[in-house]
Amino acid sequence: MKYLSEEKIENKKILLRCDFNVPIHNGIITDSSKIDKSLKTINYLLKNNNKVIIFSHFGRVKVEEDKKNNSLKKVYEYLKNIIDLEFIEDSLNLDIVNNSDKLCFLVENTRFTDIPNKKESINDLELAKYWASFGDIFVVDAFASLHRMHASTAGISKYLPTYLGFLVEDEIKNLDPLINNKDKKLLVIMGGAKVDDKIKIIENILPKCDKLLLTGGLLNTFLKVKGYNVGNSLVSSDEEVLKIVKKLLEENKDKIIYSNCFIVKREDKNVCVSIEDVQSNDIILDNIITEKDISYGELIFLNGSCGKFEEKEYEEGTKKLLELLKKSNASVYIGGGDAVASTHKFGYTSSFTYTSSGGGATLEYVSTGKLNALEFIKENSVEN
Ligand code: 3PG
Repeated sequence: MKYLSEEKIENKKILLRCDFNVPIHNGIITDSSKIDKSLKTINYLLKNNNKVIIFSHFGRVKVEEDKKNNSLKKVYEYLKNIIDLEFIEDSLNLDIVNNSDKLCFLVENTRFTDIPNKKESINDLELAKYWASFGDIFVVDAFASLHRMHASTAGISKYLPTYLGFLVEDEIKNLDPLINNKDKKLLVIMGGAKVDDKIKIIENILPKCDKLLLTGGLLNTFLKVKGYNVGNSLVSSDEEVLKIVKKLLEENKDKIIYSNCFIVKREDKNVCVSIEDVQSNDIILDNIITEKDISYGELIFLNGSCGKFEEKEYEEGTKKLLELLKKSNASVYIGGGDAVASTHKFGYTSSFTYTSSGGGATLEYVSTGKLNALEFIKENSVEN
């Protein structure tokens, strides 16, 4: 497995896996950055006279009904203003590729092949082999999907020489200081609503970091397990999660930290109270982090937010945190959908050392140093 940048590839048929799973609201792409970041690889391949067949998943497709709202057509409409390309409606019928004058194709959502029986998402090798039969080379540029071992992210590599595209190379090289950090103090800031979604990541990241600053709704469960009253705030009721939280708190007494300023409503006003002052009918809405809380980190990785920053009333914690991070002398890395969206919302898009295009993939990579699909490719890909 090599980087695309290591070799000149021309006059070939390329299967290119991108991640075009972008947010779409009311039919409009609200953040096209994942598509835009893929253009470097697409343009490079086209410039070198290759035929490029692009695959991507979009959304979650569990039942037939899900196909309606998860077509890649909107992405096609966006891309066709930039590149001359054709849309292929059925990923199980790619013959058109061999009968068209076009040089670039976008194939419909790979997850549509999960209906009626799962294929894409169980890395079905028959499916991977079928897709591979239309190309000479497989280029993987879908960093944000590489924690998913799918036929289109991993399986195809079993049948074709495989290269990592420019976007993936960029991510791997830029995230390296977090993964192979030896001498800098690493502070991880983890927020977000639900602890259940992130407990595995928290477990994996604790041994890798020097301090873990928790914030957002997921902190409530840690506080409750510590014995504090969190009022009517969102907490996990999953016994297994509660057990893990208890264990993590016992084993990481000085490592797990939090800022003791919680926003609750009193007489219709947002006020900051310490955890000791939270009352039984309070709901913790936001959490204000101070300069002192982040001063420990020389390297800082931020994932998640302090409160529901999409709503003006609860944006203060997240906004303030970004402001502090911008002012700090630390190298700051941003990963995960919410954290990235908050940098855009509050005008910090280009303020930090690195902003990753991945959500779950970045968390998986930073916390374990591995990505399932990459490991599969390393072990199985055809020599190149
Ligand atoms: C993402 O947006 O994080 C990736 O595209 C992966 O999407 P998934 O969580 O639906 O697999």
